[in-house]
This record gives sequence, structure tokens and C-alpha cells, in this order.
Amino acid sequence: MMSKSAICRITLLAGLMVPAATTWAADCAVEIEGNDAMQFNKSSIDVPASCKQFTVKLKHSGKLPKVAMGHNWVLTKTADAQGAAGDGVAAGAAKDYVKDGDARVIAHTKLVGGGESDSVTFGVDKLSAGESYTYFCSFPGHSSLMKGTLKLAK
Ligand code: CO
Repeated sequence: MMSKSAICRITLLAGLMVPAATTWAADCAVEIEGNDAMQFNKSSIDVPASCKQFTVKLKHSGKLPKVAMGHNWVLTKTADAQGAAGDGVAAGAAKDYVKDGDARVIAHTKLVGGGESDSVTFGVDKLSAGESYTYFCSFPGHSSLMKGTLKLAK
């Protein structure tokens, strides 16, 4: 049998370990899937403010090639999304439908086709609390359906 004081010590130790474990486990990455039906499987993403960097892994769960059903993940402020998406389409396939040097684009993956994936990591210091962000796929015709909101969570 364990002595009372040993149990006490273990309980105390477990209590001390919880905050450290929580910090370590802060989810600073998310996986999002795009499919052959022109859909993302997530409509919103919360970025924990405790993360220094955040990684988005985009997986194309479909089979269609990227020339027919290409997907990328592009992040802007919500107010910038429509303009950046339009300029992305104009930039063309060779640029993965993202305009060169577009300051409105906070982060983006490359364009992927069925079975492919790509990820992007960005500094959480690029996000402001209370600001509304939108992510979308900038492949022509996709951004009206393939989009979601992102925010800096508390
Ligand atoms: Co797409």
C-alpha cells in the first residue's frame, strides 16, 4: 500500500504537470481536405493565440488532376478575399492562381491535385485579435464554394 504522503505527492505532481502538458499540446496545426466535389471539409479554423506559428496541411482527398479540380489554401483578411481571389485567377495556373507578391495574401499552399498534399506555416503574429480572416481555394470558380473563416482564438 502506498502511504498517504506518497499519494499526496503524486497528486500534487500530476496537478503541476497539467498546465505544462496543455501548453505543449496546444494545437498549432490543422489538416483540411479538399475533394472532387469542390468542397473543403472545414468551414472554420481557430488559431490558438498561444501558438507562435501555425501550420495548415491541405490534402486533396479526390482523384481528379489539378488542371480539372485543383485546390490550394489561401488566407487573407475577409475584406481582401474577393480581390485577392480575382487577381489570383488572373495570375493563372503557372502561378498556382496567386498573384506574385500579393501583400493581401497572408499565407498560401501550392495548388494540388487528387491524392496530393501541401502545407504552409505562418507566424501567428500576422493575425490580429478581432480581425476576420477568410481562407479559400483560388482555382477559377472555386472560391465561392471553397471558403471558410479563420480567427485568432483566445
Ligand atoms: Co479548388
